Amino acid sequence: RLKLGVLISGRGSNLQALIDACADPAYPAEIVLVLSNKAGAQGLLRAKEAGIATAIVSHRDFATRESFDASVTAKLRDANVELVCLAGFMRVLTPSFVDAWRDRLINIHPSLLPAFPGVDTHARALQAGVRMHGCTVHYVRNDVDSGPIIVQAAVPVASGDSEDALAERVLAAEHRTYPLAVRWIAERRTRIIDERVVIDGVDGVAPSIL
Ligand code: GAR
Repeated sequence: RLKLGVLISGRGSNLQALIDACADPAYPAEIVLVLSNKAGAQGLLRAKEAGIATAIVSHRDFATRESFDASVTAKLRDANVELVCLAGFMRVLTPSFVDAWRDRLINIHPSLLPAFPGVDTHARALQAGVRMHGCTVHYVRNDVDSGPIIVQAAVPVASGDSEDALAERVLAAEHRTYPLAVRWIAERRTRIIDERVVIDGVDGVAPSIL
């Protein structure tokens, strides 16, 4: 089973989706470490409940982003992590971290990238009046919320949607999307060709799931 390290900063509902997927012995990955930059993150309790090792690396304890990231890498290496999954991890990582984990570092983002990188994606989608919104799991590159797309899920925007209602609909899609992306990677079915992802056994590129 592919060894996952999951990086969180808060609620950890995407972490929970991965924990639930990994609970199936037939799932090709397992979580060996959950690391949070916030001591009070609810996701740490989810990890403990599931009997998964946890670590807290507080960015406040480090003078530079480089030293913080180096400490995170050391913890991940100690746990023999093979794939790093960002799941609501709200720190921008340094280029040296991203390079150290190149093609072994993925993120889930609450929009259909390349639309709406950054924060407040649901409010900005409503403001823009888009009819479809969604989420993206992608390999991480140095520009914020950029990198080869593995899976996207599209959700409709309803007339009169509030930010919370839209966020909830997207989050439900996130919880299906992240375990699927990890499964494909663990099954070694993803290849990056010219910075685009090809998935063996799946027609076309980066299919959308609903
Ligand atoms: C999720 O919606 C995730 O896509 C988003 O934060 C939320 C975390 O929720 N990530 C980002 O915005 C990354 N820039 P969770 O802690 O319940 O998984």
